[in-house]
Amino acid sequence: MGSAAATPPPARKPTQDELKRVAAHRAAEFVEPGMTLGLGTGSTAAHALDRLGDLLRAGALPGVTGVPTSLKTEAHAARVGIPLLPLGGHGGPGKIHLSIDGADEVDPDLNLVKGRGGSLLREKMIEGAGDRFVVIVDESKLVPRLGCTGAIPVEVVPFGAHHTLGLIRKVFDGLAGFRARLRTGEDRSGSEAPFVTDNGNYIVEMFFDDGIRGDLRDISDRLLRITGVVEHGMFLGMATTVIVANKDGTVEVIN
Ligand code: 5RP
Repeated sequence: MGSAAATPPPARKPTQDELKRVAAHRAAEFVEPGMTLGLGTGSTAAHALDRLGDLLRAGALPGVTGVPTSLKTEAHAARVGIPLLPLGGHGGPGKIHLSIDGADEVDPDLNLVKGRGGSLLREKMIEGAGDRFVVIVDESKLVPRLGCTGAIPVEVVPFGAHHTLGLIRKVFDGLAGFRARLRTGEDRSGSEAPFVTDNGNYIVEMFFDDGIRGDLRDISDRLLRITGVVEHGMFLGMATTVIVANKDGTVEVIN
């Protein structure tokens, strides 16, 4: 009796976390000895921290230091042995050679939504201070328009936060599908207390059904003119490189 050719088992699709790790490891190839790095926040950036820690311990990246974008990243980087610096620690503007961070959304012009992890202010300060900003994502983060998959976070001072929320609603009233609310209930007790950022501020979440169809720069300018708004999570024209790990196993490096 002839033996039937065995059908190979279907290749297992990589998980989203595996794709995040692939993108993060590719980004680590951009790091050179002596660089000061902006260290991002989130589950994708965490893979980059682990990789950098491994490379530092192996002696492959002498003189590399990092500026963390959140308290969580600060603790993680310290744990894996990345020497840390504060932003602008020498009294002048900080010099960052390269930042590596994830994103919540990436549009076709490489504009980003960041900060659904709550760290947008430090991320924007540090990533905006760098020569190069490498964004690491799996393909699920690519969107046709910002705001397609969730909130645009806006950091506001706690004083008068509901007043600031009201002003945001008034300024953007009439934009297609626009809603805004204060982010709450994430202190693990399920309470309705406001979410508090590392800077002691609150977050207003702006939602747009089907994404933002207006002019992003104009929306950014109008937001930043509202007294009480500290910063927002649209990172416009900031990414210099986006590394995308695809489910089919390919990795794109978009400049
Ligand atoms: C945190 C961020 C993160 O980069 C963003 O939320 C993506 O997170 P993840 O890599 O876990 O998907 O902006 O403030």
